[in-house]
Amino acid sequence: MKIAVLAGDGIGPEITAQAVRVLQALAADGLAVEMEHAPVGGAGYDASGDPLPEATLKLAGQADAILFGSVGGPKYDTLPRAKRPEQGLLRLRKHFDLFANLRPAIVYPELAHASTLKPEVISGLDLLILRELTSDIYFGQPRGVRTNENGEREGFDTMRYTESEIRRIAQLAFETARKRQRRVCSVDKANVLETTQFWREVVTEVHGQYRDVELTHMYVDNAAMQLVRDPRQFDVMVTGNMFGDILSDEASMLTGSIGMLPSASLNARGFGLYEPIHGSAPDIAGRNLANPLATILSTAMLLRHSLHQEAAARRVEAAVRKVLGQGFRTADIAETGKRTVGTREMGDAVLAAL
Ligand code: IPM
Ligand code: MG
Repeated sequence: MKIAVLAGDGIGPEITAQAVRVLQALAADGLAVEMEHAPVGGAGYDASGDPLPEATLKLAGQADAILFGSVGGPKYDTLPRAKRPEQGLLRLRKHFDLFANLRPAIVYPELAHASTLKPEVISGLDLLILRELTSDIYFGQPRGVRTNENGEREGFDTMRYTESEIRRIAQLAFETARKRQRRVCSVDKANVLETTQFWREVVTEVHGQYRDVELTHMYVDNAAMQLVRDPRQFDVMVTGNMFGDILSDEASMLTGSIGMLPSASLNARGFGLYEPIHGSAPDIAGRNLANPLATILSTAMLLRHSLHQEAAARRVEAAVRKVLGQGFRTADIAETGKRTVGTREMGDAVLAAL
């Protein structure tokens, strides 16, 4: 099995290096994986003038899964949109039709005190945000900046969802909920936006085939509030691309740190890209400060969803829990009385636990 490792920019190379060590340890134990690296994002632009170089796309297409770090940085902020690092990631999502973005937010008992929320609000939380990833205002046309009829400049983007796009993510939400607590909350802004009123209609229709699952609807502003008021009311939250982007960052803080949240982006064939939900954190890049656990947990998702290695996935997750139990903390989840370690030392601890 082949994994394309696209480390990207900022802290990307440091955190993926630790995940690669985990995979190497599993390989030494008999797991048949090999890894190949290629540049993406700003690194892709530096290497060949394109955030998604042809050779990188080719490597990804030949692999069984993609392990992704993070992209972006101040150095690239003034590039035209097509050359910006984020385009490397967005084009990969679109090219492989990775419409289903799974972002689990789990509160480990060991980290209940690392969250900015009270432990009694978040302890035991096990929430799955299912974000649609290949449509919505992220990809809708037309978009741009133009001079309007009054001679004034204006920016515009288009929010758009087709029925089939809503159906497939809704089906997956119900299927996934069946393996969990059988509750789906669909998040929209149906009181204002036509597109999301249509979203609500289609999700409700699809629910007809999944009567054993409870379906509720919630406006996104209320959902943002409910997530910090009482997050444990949610089991599976299904939503569009943009709302999912925002709510998943919010949900990450329930778990203690954005440095803890993994993700899987899957297409209908189960091919996937696996990445931490956090960004490239240029402010701490190259300083051995970043938390590699979100990437290591993303590797566990890769093992589970693309390589069908459930036992190996659990082993990695258990190792992460073990190091948290042993008191290892990176700066983002630091606690008095615990050992604050760097990126590499956290990797060492996970390897030892493994
Ligand atoms: C994410 C990120 C990306 C997004 C950026 C880097 C394009 O914020 O994966 O959540 O907006 O989807
Ligand atoms: Mg985001």
